[in-house]
Amino acid sequence: MDSYLVYRGLLLPKIIHTEDSLKYYESIEFQDDDVIVITYPKSGTTWMQEILPSLLNGGDPTPVLTIPSWIRVPWLEQVCIPEVMHTLSAPRAFVSHMPFNLMPPSFFTSKAKVIYITRNPKDVAVSYFYFNQMASFLPDPGNFEEYANNFLAGKVIYGKWTDHVKSWRNPGLGDRILYITYEEMIQDVYGVIKCVLGFLDRQLSEDALKGVVEQCQFKNMKQNKMSNYSLVPPDYLDARKSSFLRKGIAGDWKNHFSPELDAKFNEVINEELKGTDYRFLWEQ
Ligand code: A3P
Repeated sequence: MDSYLVYRGLLLPKIIHTEDSLKYYESIEFQDDDVIVITYPKSGTTWMQEILPSLLNGGDPTPVLTIPSWIRVPWLEQVCIPEVMHTLSAPRAFVSHMPFNLMPPSFFTSKAKVIYITRNPKDVAVSYFYFNQMASFLPDPGNFEEYANNFLAGKVIYGKWTDHVKSWRNPGLGDRILYITYEEMIQDVYGVIKCVLGFLDRQLSEDALKGVVEQCQFKNMKQNKMSNYSLVPPDYLDARKSSFLRKGIAGDWKNHFSPELDAKFNEVINEELKGTDYRFLWEQ
């Protein structure tokens, strides 16, 4: 358990979050024009970190090409947040993996907007498995079957996928929250970006919009040193074991799940989502 700390019941990786950074996190004062991308890990966080800065500054790709993703759209609960915070100018964009109930107090009184992205949990589990392999600060995840069972049981960092998703359903935020899925982004990222622009009351010229769409293509992000995590030393993320931007597709779970595991996943996830309005819009 040396790799972890437990924050208000949530299992977190120790090297990325410290007692001090979490204390700072709780004291963050949100501004009404802040935008927070909330995800369970491996659901499209980095993708949105590529898109948002350009939407917030008229389509200029400079920040995305010159500032590492974790500084241009920082993680609210991450260790470096106190130093990064003063480098940001309004409108600020953040990412977070926190469940709704663990958001800092000022979030609940501000008008900060939330973009909540979900992804097929089977693909999340696969992506998370490879991330655990490359993350040198985490114990070996074992084989995929073992990891998937731990994922279902919530014995992974950031806890149970269903708890996260449920916490952000109907949180009473009205039009402060936009729900999108990774699969929608795969199918039509242009359409999703237009939708995000509408949500943020922003406009972009058609040329600028096409520029953002091009910049956030998987193949281009893989080449962008500011986004592909190649700046992180191998004693944190070991690219010889896997890539952070690994496959970038929907449905890779089919290459990893046995029929038995698939049936178990459907049963557990459907049971845990019973009584919520959350429905898969993608092939299970
Ligand atoms: P895979 O491991 O399935 O490839 P997060 O940023 O939330 O940690 O999510 C990482 C996942 O999003 C990885 O999934 C990564 O490849 C995928 N991803 C990031 N940018 C993408 C893009 N432009 N297009 C498609 N997938 C992308």
